[in-house]
Amino acid sequence: MKKAIFRIWRGDAKGGAFVDYPTEISEGMVVLDAVHQIQAAQANDLACRWNCKAGKCGSCSAEINGMPKPMCMTRLDQLALDQPVTIEPMRAFPRIRDLTTDVSWNYRVKKKIKRFRPRPPDAADGTWRMAQTDIDRVQEFRRCIECFLCQDVCHVLRDHQKYEEFIGPQADGIGYCNITKCCTKVCPENIKITDNAIIPLKERVVDEFYDPLGKLLKLFRPTT
Ligand code: SF4
Ligand code: SF4
Ligand code: FES
Repeated sequence: MKKAIFRIWRGDAKGGAFVDYPTEISEGMVVLDAVHQIQAAQANDLACRWNCKAGKCGSCSAEINGMPKPMCMTRLDQLALDQPVTIEPMRAFPRIRDLTTDVSWNYRVKKKIKRFRPRPPDAADGTWRMAQTDIDRVQEFRRCIECFLCQDVCHVLRDHQKYEEFIGPQADGIGYCNITKCCTKVCPENIKITDNAIIPLKERVVDEFYDPLGKLLKLFRPTT
């Protein structure tokens, strides 16, 4: 049977190092299968999170050969197996143990987002009228599985640690975003985070606060 080497980061918040695990591989395996095999046969105490093994729970996020990916959706036949495959925890979040990180910051920043307040109903029976394009836009973001890979790859958080000032792409943070689109590239749900969420929000902010013509028109708009 064919073998491959998995170079897995072992350690905790205080520090750690990569450890090589050679293991047998077979057709159809994903990285999470290899990690489970290593857990079962060589490293019973190796910590990693997973739940669905179907790309739906968002818990198996890691960095595979330096790229943020869900371990259960990364097939071994997509990787060069003639050299060790590195698997390490997401770098933007505090390490707990081995492949697990503390992602609680993502839930805390969500609480900063203002609740949606709908406009008054469009019809007398208390209902609204929506264009299909607006429904499609919202549905796209509903696909998010909260894997936080977009947050992990965003350089504003990862390299500049702006955790206090910026809430990140997953929560539609726009302030420090300079549209590098790295978040869009890693999203396993193919959500066009930058094009369909962040850029339209930036445009709305510009229209609302910085458009001189818009400001002038507002002055003459009748108040209700
Ligand atoms: S496009 Fe913006 S939010 Fe996305 S990774 Fe780049 S800087 Fe971060
Ligand atoms: S937007 Fe995409 S990458 Fe970001 S948390 Fe949701 S599914 Fe993951
Ligand atoms: S185990 Fe659920 S997304 Fe990978």
